[in-house]
Amino acid sequence: MNSVVIYKSRYGSTQKYAQWIAEELCCDIFDAKNVSASNLAKYDTIIYGGGLYGEVICGAGLITKNIEMLKDKKIAVFSTGITPLNCREYYDRMVIEKNFKNGLPENVKVFNFLGKMVLNELSFPHKTAIKALKKFMSSKENPSDMEKLLIELCDADGDFTDKNAIWDLVEYAKAT
Ligand SMILES: Cc1cc2nc3c(=O)[nH]c(=O)nc-3n(C[C@H](O)[C@H](O)[C@H](O)COP(=O)(O)O)c2cc1C
Repeated sequence: MNSVVIYKSRYGSTQKYAQWIAEELCCDIFDAKNVSASNLAKYDTIIYGGGLYGEVICGAGLITKNIEMLKDKKIAVFSTGITPLNCREYYDRMVIEKNFKNGLPENVKVFNFLGKMVLNELSFPHKTAIKALKKFMSSKENPSDMEKLLIELCDADGDFTDKNAIWDLVEYAKAT
């Protein structure tokens, strides 16, 4: 088995998961900024991770835009975000629909992990976006359950990364 882990991480949580996974698989690991699709040809299993920003898995275009070229590979894509993992409607529908516009290919499995959001570490544009989202959602007269959750999540402040979350992905990558 010849695997590679590629990640794109702004605040470090996706990188942390990528390192944990690569250690378990004893495989190559690269920051996505140093990788292009042609570098993936020599691997059988490709694991891509990115932080969730407005439901978009950061940098996942490396996989989704090259899906035809990668059709014979086993692929795991993981997101890190602050939405609780039991919000399956969010992860199984919204995140998949937004990132895999033509549907989820058979050779791709998606995993979701909790990341971190430390408010005083956020960049100015990110802090402003979170504040604006909270203000907008709070102004709604009858917010839906998802909107209420979003308002709460705007105040999420902490590191929720957990190494124990990786095992299903590691098993999937190891299985022949
Ligand atoms: C502007 C902004 C938008 C975000 N959007 C989402 C989102 O849509 N869903 C989610 O679960 N988390 C969202 N988050 C939380 C990040 O996904 C989370 O902090 C993630 O762990 C960041 O990954 P990184 O540390 O690898 O950059 C957002 C955070 C910011 C600052």
